[in-house]
Amino acid sequence: MEYILYEVSDKVGTITINREKALNALNSQVLDELSATLDAVDLNEIRCLVLTGAGEKAFVAGADIAEMSSLTKAEAEAFGKKGNDVFRKLETFPIPVIAAVNGFALGGGCEIAMSCDIRLASDTAVFGQPEVGLGITPGFGGTQRLARLIGAGMAKQLIYTARNIKAEEAYRVGLVNDVIKPEEGASSKDAVLAAAQKMAAGIAKQAPIAVRASKKAINDGLQVDMDAAIVIEEKLFGSCFETKDQGAAMANFLEKDKEKKLKVVPFENK
Ligand code: CAA
Repeated sequence: MEYILYEVSDKVGTITINREKALNALNSQVLDELSATLDAVDLNEIRCLVLTGAGEKAFVAGADIAEMSSLTKAEAEAFGKKGNDVFRKLETFPIPVIAAVNGFALGGGCEIAMSCDIRLASDTAVFGQPEVGLGITPGFGGTQRLARLIGAGMAKQLIYTARNIKAEEAYRVGLVNDVIKPEEGASSKDAVLAAAQKMAAGIAKQAPIAVRASKKAINDGLQVDMDAAIVIEEKLFGSCFETKDQGAAMANFLEKDKEKKLKVVPFENK
């Protein structure tokens, strides 16, 4: 892989988009490598992913403008589909993905962050959908996910004006879950990555089947009306039962012996 780094620590995988010279802009090769990296994640071992960008300056500064500049209508549509397919793979990935947004998250960068389950921003992060200033619409899901995340009115304002917003404003409008401030003198990037990895480790300690089922219930339920959504939850709730994790965790809770009651269950993928 030329542009993607993948590291594993305990049960957490960290994917770094590593094209720092171009501020981690997404060209076709980056998208292909990201897709192949996701395909290769060992889901028996890894329970949560963190996605970040190389360097201090950018998470991802968007789709590659140089590559896009000479595309025909048909080629542009195909490029949009390539990005959308990878981002959808990320969004529906069986385990949670946390974006550690360490700087510019513009256009495709904001869009890839929105395809993750949770977004943590460094205090230096900048978000925006600047596409209309380039004569195009957002093309990797931005018109759809931004409106769903922060509401149609605010999404329209940001997209029509192409205005970039800083991390605190992104937090205020609900685009990010938290803004991570570094200790005095420490690096903003290190701080947000450490916070994301800590959160991922916390998720990795929970029962993996239950975490996956919760992700699926939320994602699938949001696509349908409430009557159908609640049935999705019932099925996934039911699917957790008769697993080793549910049996052991509930038995421990019900145990009269205080020591046993508090014992951490070593959760399995079974
Ligand atoms: N595509 C290709 N190259 C990019 C890029 C992008 N999206 N963003 C940055 N780069 C490259 C620059 O061309 C430059 O390369 P060279 O050193 O070879 O000249 C390098 O990264 C550093 O960038 P700058 O010199 O521009 O750095 P800066 O500090 O002056 O500005 C910035 C930083 C404000 C993020 C600026 O780079 C910028 O505005 N980038 C483009 C942001 C953008 O418009 N993103 C949306 C793209 S469209 C899209 O994403 C469509 C979609 O939805 C699918």
